[in-house]
Amino acid sequence: MCGIVGIIDQKPVAKNIVSALKCLEYRGYDSAGIATLDKGHLECIRATGKLINLEKKLKKYSLPGTIGIGHTRWATHGEPSEQNAHPHTTEKVAVVHNGIIENFKELREMLNKKGYTTTTQTDTEVIAKLLTLYLDNNLSMKEALETTLKSLQGAFALAIISPMDLDKIYFARKGSPLVIGIGENSNYIASDAIALASYTHQVIYPEEGDWGYITQKNYQIFNKDNKVTKHPIHTLNLSTQTASKGAYRHFMEKEIFEQSTVLNETLSSYLTPEKNELSLPKFIFDKNKLNRLTIIACGTSYYAACIAKYWIEKYAKIPVEVDIASEFRYRQPALGSAENHACLFISQSGETIDTLEALRYVKAKGLPTISIVNVTHSSISRETDSMWPTFAGPEIGVASTKAFSCQLMTLACFTLGLAKTKINQKEFSDLLESLKSISMWLEKMPNLRQECLTAARTLAKATDVLYLGRGTNFPMALEGALKLKEISYIHAEAYAAGEMKHGPIALIDALTPIVALAPNDNLIEKTISNLQEASARGGKIISLGDAESLKKLETISIHTIEIPTVPTFIQPFILTLPMQLLAYETALLKGTDVDQPRNLAKSVTVE
Ligand code: G6P
Repeated sequence: MCGIVGIIDQKPVAKNIVSALKCLEYRGYDSAGIATLDKGHLECIRATGKLINLEKKLKKYSLPGTIGIGHTRWATHGEPSEQNAHPHTTEKVAVVHNGIIENFKELREMLNKKGYTTTTQTDTEVIAKLLTLYLDNNLSMKEALETTLKSLQGAFALAIISPMDLDKIYFARKGSPLVIGIGENSNYIASDAIALASYTHQVIYPEEGDWGYITQKNYQIFNKDNKVTKHPIHTLNLSTQTASKGAYRHFMEKEIFEQSTVLNETLSSYLTPEKNELSLPKFIFDKNKLNRLTIIACGTSYYAACIAKYWIEKYAKIPVEVDIASEFRYRQPALGSAENHACLFISQSGETIDTLEALRYVKAKGLPTISIVNVTHSSISRETDSMWPTFAGPEIGVASTKAFSCQLMTLACFTLGLAKTKINQKEFSDLLESLKSISMWLEKMPNLRQECLTAARTLAKATDVLYLGRGTNFPMALEGALKLKEISYIHAEAYAAGEMKHGPIALIDALTPIVALAPNDNLIEKTISNLQEASARGGKIISLGDAESLKKLETISIHTIEIPTVPTFIQPFILTLPMQLLAYETALLKGTDVDQPRNLAKSVTVE
């Protein structure tokens, strides 16, 4: 996490660095800082808290430099104090860093022995001191960086400026994302291309282990063997509008209500131009031989994977395992062969380090790899054999909303592609038609906002909330509970409704609301029995269902939220909206920071 930016221009860069950092605040927001070079002077300003605090400081102390770097932090080593904020500086360098230097303790000991005393709790400071040590030993800035990189273990994206090398910003990347932006009379680096949308659409993606520098008019990239390397320039279709809230109060609100549009865009990308047939990327495995699929992801993406397991096993009859990336990568999983076992990686950002490392583990074993990603130039998308994009557009709210539903859409298309020869034509067409109807249904819930707000008033008073569901409504419940936790800070747990009697039932009392995901499906009677059991013990039930199921739940519900009656296959898409709105309205009532909830970050590039 953390966002880094570097800009070289003809004019002062501080303002543009702050604007670019604003687009990266989703990566962390506990402190921020900026350093510029002005006529050989290195100047640095840092502030705790969000960027707004840094902006206030910059109004008092202007930074006129035309070369500068900036950072927005998600603390890993050391509390979010001004002293631990980036850039970390010496007289000779200023460094911003995204990632973790795993051997920083050894390096710090060595540096302290040599008289390069460290004063912060961060891992990053050793990079600034190492560079200074080598510069003191008369190495050039380029040589100092080359030598420093050899000592660093862990993950990093770095931007460095130095009064010893006045016209360059040096960079390096290993394990953390970094993009170079090519402007007219200016050049850029950033953790994410979205930060550069206002300045350039021409970008280069350095590879793992690459390092180099940008000047105002040029750039040079070296590979991990220190040989000059070149990479293609991509023209991105990035709108500066995507980083604006428009008429909405929060990015999250905007992104929730964008879902019918982006779901349509995602589905359309997997249909023929006439929109009557699926048109999918080629499967990179033999569908007839495949007898095992492992889906690996983190957070909300993991819950999307859990829903897909139900679909793929039901319709395509292929056994599916779903694994949390951070567990998968270290437990020496037993894998099948390249002929019968494929692995699918789901990630909005395409940069989550646990998912990326799990992918590398699988690749090293020779299995076919597929990714479903929202950021199409991300590391995960580039490193998998086949990439299935989602078309959610940039998601800024830290809690995932539209990226989740677009992952579901891509997974639904993936399922249909696998199921085509396993189910009859009529069932296949019905499923495809149901996907096409989702956007229309999402627009047809006029009372939804009010119903969610009414129920949110109950949730906002609770300290604990239970979410229950069966079938795909169970992983939906997990995602619903996660949304509530993330943005309202209310403790929420989700269980398979049928599992409740094996323990969670002990938690039920009149103070613990239960959110029941209970649309009419083949399990509804069983779900209702479980809810009756909860109600009999004083549980206060908020039911999300369609007209038919809500009628059955009427007597035991304190609130009902109605969704339209739709085929079971697409129920998760429709339930997503009330589930997200419930969390959103609750968070508003609690007065939390909806878009940037405490302690979280959107792109998790540390383990
Ligand atoms: C973080 C975000 C979540 C996201 C998860 C996985 O925890 O806050 O919203 O679901 O990372 O991210 P990915 O980019 O891999 O989907």
